This record gives sequence, structure tokens and C-alpha cells, in this order.
Amino acid sequence: MSATHPILRLESVSKHFGGLRVVEDLNLAVRRGVRTALIGPNGAGKTTVFNLITGVFPVDAGRILLDGVDITATSSHLRIGHGIARSFQNIRLMPHLSTLENVMVGQHCRNRGVRGVLQPVNLVPRNRWREAARAALVDAGLIEYERSTVGNLPYGVQKRIELVRALMAQPRLLLLDEPAAGLNPAETEALQAQLEKICIGGLTVLVVEHDMHFVGALCEDVIVLDFGRKIAEGSPEDIRRNPLVQEIYLGAPVAQPMERHSACSA
Ligand SMILES: Nc1ncnc2c1ncn2[C@@H]1O[C@H](COP(=O)(O)OP(=O)(O)OP(=O)(O)O)[C@@H](O)[C@H]1O
Ligand SMILES: [Mg+2]
Repeated sequence: MSATHPILRLESVSKHFGGLRVVEDLNLAVRRGVRTALIGPNGAGKTTVFNLITGVFPVDAGRILLDGVDITATSSHLRIGHGIARSFQNIRLMPHLSTLENVMVGQHCRNRGVRGVLQPVNLVPRNRWREAARAALVDAGLIEYERSTVGNLPYGVQKRIELVRALMAQPRLLLLDEPAAGLNPAETEALQAQLEKICIGGLTVLVVEHDMHFVGALCEDVIVLDFGRKIAEGSPEDIRRNPLVQEIYLGAPVAQPMERHSACSA
């Protein structure tokens, strides 16, 4: 595989919910080792695209290729095994478990089945997964929360723990759905530093984010969706200057967190 070969390609992908065309004939490519942002107004279909890439929903039409391999019909579980990991728009940690236990659970994809899911938490508390999870928490500057019950931690810390958990699967493609949403400036900065560090090794990241400051600082490529269609792509600077993109966001340059100027009724 050449360095320029896209790690992820969507070919003419469509998804409808009843009569609602949520993703329509979408073609996109994510370059290997590049941080790419997927942006668009509320309801544009960004999370649905993540759900199609991860196999939560089947596509109605089109193909999804990971490293040139057609994974369109591959189960969600196997896609994780093939190296796709994600964080969710709404935190999906297990609130009653400790930070360490949550991070250890992130390794279950290497061990298929229910036994694999339970083993890291209950059966082998001092195995190498535990040590790997501790090392990841040290690396992320989160080891002080190792024994804390996750549900009691600040939102910004939980978001960063979710990121560490996603990394435990050792992905080659990391999907982040609004990682900075709801974070205060200090929490956003901490998350940004964590992501910069993670990406040093060349991990490919596709991130949905409304905050264009965040996108501009982190990403090299930007893809813009509106009503499930790709309307623009390019560098963050290209996108800021794109008149069509400006038009869908309040008629103003896209420098602030973005909301559609009228309710989405796609
Ligand atoms: N499972 C579902 N069943 C029916 N409609 C859905 C489903 N999931 C999403 N939709 C609809 O698809 C459209 C796109 O939703 P999606 O969550 O992908 O948008 P989004 O771009 O992620 O928006 P936001 O920025 O608000 O997170 C919305 O109109 C939503 O109501
Ligand atoms: Mg969304």
C-alpha cells in the first residue's frame, strides 16, 4: 500500500431512514496518517456516517473500503478487529466502573466473545492488559483517576478517558464524534494536547467537530456535509473561505462553533 493510498474510502454511499435521505451518494476518502475533520450543520448526517463506517447501520447503497478491502458487509465487531475505533457524541463509558476498568474494557476486541469482554475486568486483574491500561493512563496524564468511579469525574476528564479506551484497541483509524463538545477552554486544551501526542505516531483520525478553532489546530483535511451530501473539501483555510460553506453557517465566516441558520428538516 502506498503512503498516499486512502485508508478509508466511501463510494457512492447512501442511507435512508424511512423517507429521510440522511446520507446521499457520498464519496469520500481519508488519507492515511492524516487528521481529517468531517463538519456540517446539525443533522447533516455526520454521526450517521460514523455509524455506517463502524457498521452500526448497514448502508442502503454503495461500498466502504478500509485499506482497499471492502468491509461493507463486515460486522461491527469485526470492523473493530480490523482497526477501526471510535468515541461517541454522548459519552459511553461505564459510569459505575473505575477509570482503569473502563480503559481495560477497551482491549476486549482482541478477545472475541463475552468471555473476552469480561475477562479484563473480572478474571485476570493483574494481567498484562491491566499494565497496558495503566501505561496508557500514565501517558495521557490521567493515572491520578485510575481508581476513581468514572461517573463521578468531570465531563472533560471522562472525554479523555474515552479517548484512552478507544486507543486500547490499537486502531489504525480513530473516529471521534465531537470530542470537544461541552468542554470548557482548559478541558479542550488538555484534550487537544492529548490528541496531538496520540497523532505523533501517524495515527489516522477522522473527527466530527463543530469548533473550527479546534479543527484548524488539529486537522489537515476538512470534508463538509450538508443534508447528507459532500458540499466541499480541502484544507481548513480553503473551507473557511469557501462561499458555499459560509452560506450554510449564518452567512458568516466559519470561525465559531457552527449551527445551521434554520432548523434542519432534511
Ligand atoms: N436511527 C435513526 N433513525 C431515524 N432517523 C435518524 C436516525 N439516526 C439519525 N437520524 C436522522 O438523520 C439525520 C442526521 O442525523 P445525524 O445524527 O447523523 O446528524 P449529525 O450531523 O451528526 O448532527 P449533530 O451535529 O446534531 O450531531 C437527522 O435528521 C436525524 O434525525
Ligand atoms: Mg452527530
